Amino acid sequence: MSPHRFTDRTVLVTGAGSGIGRAVALALAAEGARVVAAGRNRAALDETAALAAKAGGGVLVQVADVTRRADVEALVRTAVERFGSLDAAVNNAGVFRGGGPVTDLSEEDWRSLVDTNVTGVLFAMAAEIRQMRTQPRGGAIVNVASNLGAHRQVAGTTAYAATKAAVASLTRGAALEHIGDGVRINAVSPGATATAMSLRPGETEAERAVRMKDESPLGRVSTTEEVAAAVLYLASDAAGSVVGADLLIDGGSAL
Ligand code: NAI
Repeated sequence: MSPHRFTDRTVLVTGAGSGIGRAVALALAAEGARVVAAGRNRAALDETAALAAKAGGGVLVQVADVTRRADVEALVRTAVERFGSLDAAVNNAGVFRGGGPVTDLSEEDWRSLVDTNVTGVLFAMAAEIRQMRTQPRGGAIVNVASNLGAHRQVAGTTAYAATKAAVASLTRGAALEHIGDGVRINAVSPGATATAMSLRPGETEAERAVRMKDESPLGRVSTTEEVAAAVLYLASDAAGSVVGADLLIDGGSAL
């Protein structure tokens, strides 16, 4: 595997201030990409950029809320104005809230889930595709879905899972619509991954590790680096004929 799959490529990553998004941004920077790291929290994004700089990579930080169409359009504009193209994009920003049965779900939690996980991905993809289809080299998009939704149901996560099933569906539909424009669109579906999002309320990492022995055939959470490796593969030229795929990275939990 070439260590420089993304040299001279500009890649946008949303939700890059923590967790999987940060790991993706760092892995891309290590492979030569010019990364536009987006999220709501500037301090967190600056920390991602500092970590990338230590590893010798370059990250440009831009604050954006993916629920706002103008914000995601501005991200694409920044990538193009600063670097001349947008070669790949990773739509990773997402929230988990409203855990519990659907009968207890608040209107606020539902709207936040849909706004971020579904509308955020749709607006971002639309802006990214409109740019990528003008480029001779096209582009690649990777959406971060989940093993919850299209692959697996777990009681108490129904609302979140529904938004992630929507991400899977948006991925397949947009992939079909735009592969003819030179834009390859795929998804990854992580299972429980080593970030705060997979901790139950009040749970410690050690308690989660014990729970995973029962819940996952692999017996552990995925690392953020393992998820990032899958994202980078799908965004790279090596995945040139992979279109509309949804790669499960969940230790066999959905089997
Ligand atoms: P995280 O909470 O560390 O990362 C989510 C990031 O998205 C945060 O940096 C957050 O600030 C950002 N974000 C949220 N709303 C935003 C908005 N409106 N605009 C811009 N940025 C926003 O959690 P993690 O685990 O890194 O999650 C990344 C993605 O992976 C999410 O889409 C999540 O649903 C998905 N995922 C996570 C799993 C896990 O077990 N950690 C499992 C399956 C999927």
